[in-house]
Amino acid sequence: MKKLLLGTIAAAVVASSSMAADYTLKFSHVVSANTPKGKAADFFEKRLEELSGGKIDVQVYPSSQLYKDNAVLKALRLNSVQMAAPSFSKFGKIVPQLALFDLPFIFRDAKHLHDVQDGEVGQALKDKVTAKGIVALNYWDNAFKQLSSNKNALTMPEEAKGQKFRIMSSKVLEAQFHAVGANPQMMPFSEVYSGLQQGVIDAAENPISNIYTKKFHEVQKYLTVSNHGYLGYLVVMSKKFWNSLPAELQANVTQAMNEATEKERQYAAELNDSQFELIKEYAKKTGKLEINELTAEQKEAWRNAVSKIYPEFYSDRKIGKELIEKTIATK
Ligand code: LMR
Repeated sequence: MKKLLLGTIAAAVVASSSMAADYTLKFSHVVSANTPKGKAADFFEKRLEELSGGKIDVQVYPSSQLYKDNAVLKALRLNSVQMAAPSFSKFGKIVPQLALFDLPFIFRDAKHLHDVQDGEVGQALKDKVTAKGIVALNYWDNAFKQLSSNKNALTMPEEAKGQKFRIMSSKVLEAQFHAVGANPQMMPFSEVYSGLQQGVIDAAENPISNIYTKKFHEVQKYLTVSNHGYLGYLVVMSKKFWNSLPAELQANVTQAMNEATEKERQYAAELNDSQFELIKEYAKKTGKLEINELTAEQKEAWRNAVSKIYPEFYSDRKIGKELIEKTIATK
């Protein structure tokens, strides 16, 4: 009875706080809550509600509950959802130049990547998004991607030949897998597990936190630590929603977003490490997954096989030579 009463009181408090809110901000994403993006979205929710004194009610919808990754940007432009953090390739139809971040082996390490995002190139890309009527907030990390397959270990690029790889809707990723004779198949994130389980696709590329939280490792025989490309996000907001906020609430959004971004980079580093340990434990316990790490020579072979696609994206309508060269030259 006491429990029931407490539950009723808690429900009433939540209901009255959301009733008291002047604004409702729905934040849609496709990954699990226990990922860098999921945790940072939850942090943002809590922080913005605090900073705004409850005037903004933030509602986070993980795991494609509200929108699949191919629909969210359209919904955002209609203000049906107010915030999202799609990976870069999902901006393909609006700002194809963001596919810069999909180019294999373009970033030397996380520091290089962050220097690019925090510098001139990162700002130029955000300006392009803003020019399309979407408010570009901050870049969020996931991590470098790893290869997985049911056919073989993919330690050399030749092994990818003929394999059906799930890719995000990205021209760069399509070219990357064509370069090694593989067969790329675009597929929404929410369908990857069943695609692997049912053999619609043989292979995939994902950062560890996406693999672990969506159990892709349980439907793959090989996982290869390749760090061949990067997966990250641009957090965006509906312009209509942003413009409806008074200046002090816009300042609250900016502050909560900056704090969430700092946290997000920590979550990304921590989760990708700790969840890799859990995948290793699974492999050891079940004997159903073989984990390999590319040697320096194998990595070089992959680099040579896939980085030859860069010139295909030199046109400014695709990514642009200048942007690619500036990225490589960033110290
Ligand atoms: C994917 O589609 O693989 C990723 O964009 C999912 C995500 O948001 O991390």
